Amino acid sequence: MSSAYIRDVAQREGEEVTVRAWLVSRRSSRGLHFLQLRDGTGEIQAVVASDAVDEATFEATRRLQRETSLEAVGTVTREPRSDSGLELRLRTLTVVGEGGDIPVIQNEAPIEARLEHRHLWIRAPRQQAILRVRAALIRSIHAVLEERGFLQVDAPIFTPNAVEERTSLFETRHPGIPYLTQSGQLHNEAAAMAFGRVYSYGPVFRHERTPNPARHLSEFWMVEPEVAWMQLDELIDFCESFVSAVIAGVVGRAGADLELLGRLEVARGVEQPFARITYSEAIDAAREAGATIRHGDDLTAEAERLLSADRTTPLFVTHYPASVKPFYMKRDPHDPDSVLCADLLAPEGYGEILGGGEREDSLDRLSERLGDDGLNAEDYEWYLDLRRHGSAPHSGFGLGVERTVAWLCGLSGIAEAIPFPRLP
Ligand code: 4AD
Ligand code: MG
Repeated sequence: MSSAYIRDVAQREGEEVTVRAWLVSRRSSRGLHFLQLRDGTGEIQAVVASDAVDEATFEATRRLQRETSLEAVGTVTREPRSDSGLELRLRTLTVVGEGGDIPVIQNEAPIEARLEHRHLWIRAPRQQAILRVRAALIRSIHAVLEERGFLQVDAPIFTPNAVEERTSLFETRHPGIPYLTQSGQLHNEAAAMAFGRVYSYGPVFRHERTPNPARHLSEFWMVEPEVAWMQLDELIDFCESFVSAVIAGVVGRAGADLELLGRLEVARGVEQPFARITYSEAIDAAREAGATIRHGDDLTAEAERLLSADRTTPLFVTHYPASVKPFYMKRDPHDPDSVLCADLLAPEGYGEILGGGEREDSLDRLSERLGDDGLNAEDYEWYLDLRRHGSAPHSGFGLGVERTVAWLCGLSGIAEAIPFPRLP
């Protein structure tokens, strides 16, 4: 007799196995207890019959509470009436840890209570499906980038440099490197000048000034590819094929989980090409749809929602005004007021999931832009060195993992998209 994961039990028909699991639910009829067991690899029904176990075990089973951890020994038997088509006919049942009712698992609790009990809520089937989709997304990201010749060169978390809005920096007590990073981009640019095609994958931190619980985490995970010699048009093509390949990978790895969430057809329905509009066109379209926004404003959540609400495929918005984007974005040579950038908006109003563009490669313009953003050039000397020593055109982007999960899984808030959310 050996122990088995529930996933593998189907191959053991007719054999006696030991399953170590948690009790999802129990129902009893005369002479029989039906136990639904979960071990993280699957679920199976176990049957405790009064004539197959000793009387003490049969009576104790009647009092088992949900989430009891247990060791069950029984024979794998075909049973068309069970969900999996199999059941485990138990010979012995040993309780390892007492259980108890946990309302958040059965989705009977308000969202605040669920978040407070996140450490238990992740046992719920829907949460498990979401976190499996997240894992599949991360796997796909690494697989697609490796296949396309990218080297993973990670970026530091302690940093002296703001990358995005200074107001959203988290301060540390680390002398000389006083912030938690908002983005690995600047270090990725150095790595791209050394290795050509690189990416970082890791947690980043933002203290959002006007947090939106549907879209903002204080700590989130981002993949950030950076490519030497790549310019904006090529970058947009690359983003489109990257996102498409990654989603196909998620469908392949976690199709059953997407199905459980009712989102398989949505993920399958993402088709190339993605629409591309300029910022200026986006403002006109958003205004027409009723957004209160003017040319020159950054796209609001409302405008993003209106632009993407009726779509099934993501939408690129390009060439934003320089005034709403960070110092590192390259000016459009045809329109010095705008920058060579592209944001990707997810369908159904989920908003921006990816932001990227071409980087300013001129030392003078970059120094000037740092000053405009109120940043201290001394802290960026190392970054400016990249423009002093063999500066080359280059582009990159960041894809937010949890924003992408929220869209793919159809979530109403971003908190469920990460195992243990750090909310603003
Ligand atoms: O648009 P952002 O700020 O771009 C950058 O950080 C670039 N430096 C990336 C690069 O080019 N290497 O952020 C990128 C993505 C957004 O599109 C969004 O998906 C996600 O990060 N994001 C957040 N996700 C959760 N919570 C927040 N507070 C987020 N802020 C941005
Ligand atoms: Mg952005």
